[in-house]
Amino acid sequence: MPRYHIRPIDKSDREVIIDLLTGRWGAKEVVSRGVLYDASTLPGFAAVVGDKLAGLITYDIRDDQCQIVTLDSVIEGIGIGSALIDKAADTARSRGCRRLWLITTNDNTPAIRFYQKRGFRIVAVHPNALEQSRRLKPVIPFAGLDDIPIRDEIEFEIPL
Ligand SMILES: CC(C)(COP(=O)(O)OP(=O)(O)OC[C@H]1O[C@@H](n2cnc3c(N)ncnc32)[C@H](O)[C@@H]1OP(=O)(O)O)[C@@H](O)C(=O)NCCC(=O)NCCS
Repeated sequence: MPRYHIRPIDKSDREVIIDLLTGRWGAKEVVSRGVLYDASTLPGFAAVVGDKLAGLITYDIRDDQCQIVTLDSVIEGIGIGSALIDKAADTARSRGCRRLWLITTNDNTPAIRFYQKRGFRIVAVHPNALEQSRRLKPVIPFAGLDDIPIRDEIEFEIPL
């Protein structure tokens, strides 16, 4: 099993982060709740194996809330996703946040499973939110995982 470590991202990671985000999400931009984020400019943590990026979490702190904007694990099933969430939660707590939250889409059943097993609760479903998201990011596909139509945003949170 590869050994990884988690460290904060810095400016020198930008290109590799843009490659990862573009490969996984079609662009470095991500839309959540009608807001377009350039996720490559957000703070976050990287999981690295040797000198390779094996996972990435980016987050955005506004007032007393911390949103996980992206979470990607390149080597799944060895704890990287969970460790990245723990790091974001620690950071949010230390910055005085009351809530750690995130959006996933209705097709992403593995993520819906994953977050619930890590203590997140569904606090809202935003039907047809993807119509607005596609206006801001037209490359968002219409069919998602298992060919499920991507339509709705599901909002998860952990109170801190
Ligand atoms: C969702 C995602 C981030 C999970 O990342 P991950 O690195 O696979 O997560 P973990 O390794 O921490 O956990 C995955 C499983 O491996 C298990 N696992 C972790 N470490 C393990 C180990 N050492 N040995 C065996 N199993 C292990 C975990 O228990 C977990 O299983 P469970 O959910 O049944 O408890 C990843 O699948 C991903 O990148 N998905 C695509 C992008 C995406 O959808 N992101 C979320 C968008 S909102």
